[in-house]
Amino acid sequence: MNDMTTFDVEKIRRDFPIFTREVHGKPLAFLDSGASAQKPQVVIDTMEKAYAETYANVHRGVHYLSQVSTELYEGAREIVCAHMNAANVEEIIFTKNATESINLVAQTYGAANLKPGDEIILSTLEHHSNIVPWQLIAERTGAVVKAVPIDEHGEFMLDTYLEMLGPKTKIVAITHISNAIGTITPVRQIIDAAHDAGAVVLIDGSQAAPHMKIDMQALDADFYVFTGHKVFGPTGIGVLYGKAELLDAMPPFLGGGDMIERVTFAKTTYAKGHAKFEAGTPPIVQAIGLGAAINYVNEIGFEKISAHEQTLLAYATEQLGQINSLRIIGQAKHKAAIISFTLDGIHPHDIGTIVDRGGVAIRVGHHCAQPLMDHFDVAATARASFALYNNRADVDALVSAVKSVQEIFG
Ligand code: ALA
Repeated sequence: MNDMTTFDVEKIRRDFPIFTREVHGKPLAFLDSGASAQKPQVVIDTMEKAYAETYANVHRGVHYLSQVSTELYEGAREIVCAHMNAANVEEIIFTKNATESINLVAQTYGAANLKPGDEIILSTLEHHSNIVPWQLIAERTGAVVKAVPIDEHGEFMLDTYLEMLGPKTKIVAITHISNAIGTITPVRQIIDAAHDAGAVVLIDGSQAAPHMKIDMQALDADFYVFTGHKVFGPTGIGVLYGKAELLDAMPPFLGGGDMIERVTFAKTTYAKGHAKFEAGTPPIVQAIGLGAAINYVNEIGFEKISAHEQTLLAYATEQLGQINSLRIIGQAKHKAAIISFTLDGIHPHDIGTIVDRGGVAIRVGHHCAQPLMDHFDVAATARASFALYNNRADVDALVSAVKSVQEIFG
């Protein structure tokens, strides 16, 4: 565990066993944390212990192990609640991932509240997971999906958004940070303006949660979602925060065990609070692992994490900027440590494949953000996404690998 009075990236790297391995005989420069982050030993150990020593189903047993398992699972919810500064643990729902969290809101709140002609406002920055669920519910209800444009730097166009809001706006669903180009959106202003227009707001915090403190009471979002695996926890666990009064009024999402109060063939009544939305055996050990991951990042502190990542972002932007014919896609004033780029005349898939030979892991493609790619008139980009464990050597490896791509292509 770290004594984090100062930020020591080499010490942090030693917490992540993956960095002891090489890839293609080269040190691993892992620059794909935007897709999924690596796991610290404490998360792996916590999950192993939960399986090996305390495992049983939750909420169902009077026996010892079920009670211990329930305490650990509900303890993870308390960790998430405190981390997000939610008012109440009933506002924290465990899901499978951020995608499921968004679908849950669309299929319950959306289905119950949208009518023909109502408007759902998204933005060009959105990941497909914050587009398609809204299109599905719009088709079912007759609501209309609109997208706030972005400018040539990839900035969310706040003035246009303010003009788009109106009495028909029922839901605003916007990303906190663009997964593809790193833009940090002005969420507080977005939320306040939506509330003034009488709309509810969902913020997709999947890319924000690993990089910054997220505070529900300060933000005043109605719904906020993120996923465990990007915040150094396991896959198979996501979070939906929802304001208690909205969750209480929403119909259930999935039906099954654990989400009921009383079942008869004539009528079923539902559990209150988060239980209503957690049908079936939940991802018990995944939730416990997420709790360990959140404790881990909080022990380091987001101020230090963010300062470190911003330094790396500036260094990488400057170094990549010196490469001829390299175009950085998205240069918002406030951005997270995510750099999307293209090289003239070279397909991003070729870039990704060649840099991989140098041990450099990046994502290439449309990043599940095709409307954003269309905006920049590219089919795909290469994307380096940074996390707390990256260092300058990773940037140097990327820059040198990109130069070798250019050499290969002449
Ligand atoms: N949403 C993830 C990414 O941006 C998978 O790569």
